[in-house]
Amino acid sequence: MRRRRPSAGRTSDGPVGVFDSGIGGLTVLDAISRRMPAESLVYFGDTAHVPYGTKSPEAVARYSSEVARYLEGLGVKALVVACNTASAVALPTVRRAVGVPVIGVILPGAKAAAEASRSGRIGIIGTEATIASGAYTRAVKGLRPKARVTGAACPLFVPFVEEGWWDGSVIEAVARRYLGTMRRSGVDTLILGCTHYPLLRGVVAAEMGKAVTLIDSAEQTAIELWALLRRLGLERTSGKGKARFIVSDGPGRFRMLARRLIGKDVDVRRHRFDG
Ligand code: DGL
Repeated sequence: MRRRRPSAGRTSDGPVGVFDSGIGGLTVLDAISRRMPAESLVYFGDTAHVPYGTKSPEAVARYSSEVARYLEGLGVKALVVACNTASAVALPTVRRAVGVPVIGVILPGAKAAAEASRSGRIGIIGTEATIASGAYTRAVKGLRPKARVTGAACPLFVPFVEEGWWDGSVIEAVARRYLGTMRRSGVDTLILGCTHYPLLRGVVAAEMGKAVTLIDSAEQTAIELWALLRRLGLERTSGKGKARFIVSDGPGRFRMLARRLIGKDVDVRRHRFDG
């Protein structure tokens, strides 16, 4: 079977799809809409399957491909896999599943860290699946072969963020437990390798100290998307883009957290996958 050329038949009018397992990818959506206000966006939060970070690569690849195909069916002209776990373990599968260009968040985050680090000692925190995949380590070393990379999984951070507990003594104690070894390892740059972690930036920064630069892939991913759309002639340059929000489970919690995260009420629709 012949694969379609990515973006064949697409025009700059279509929206960009942004996909995450839950709420955290809104940090990426926000960076995209600030950099490219003319672009319309469709955000999909796979809330029926969150968290991805504790699931097998096969399950994450299956969920991610299903979402990608659904977004392609809505006419997106490009797809951003905003979820670090899906980017780490399922990007090739997602690319094979759809005929639109797909970008993930691992390479943009790795690039930003490789450039920011003075000493070459770079830390990564993420879900269990992301850290176990070694995807960030490979990406950083591909860009900066002499880098010394330390990874740590922080699985409890995601439920805390989804619960809306972004600060306070409980999450501070969890961060102290997770990040003690990382702090002592002497990294000068730390990649927040999970969509949810930028929301804990204050807590992580307090634990790691002022000398450590925190990298969040969102901004760099928005830059890569912009470059990709320009290269393919798919960039929208005028007008004001709109954002739509779709989730795979009840929209109530998503709506509440989105209000807190992006500071306004959003209309959230539910799409159920069969099976
Ligand atoms: N979106 C996931 C990530 O960036 C975090 C949440 C989850 O485990 O699904 O890795």
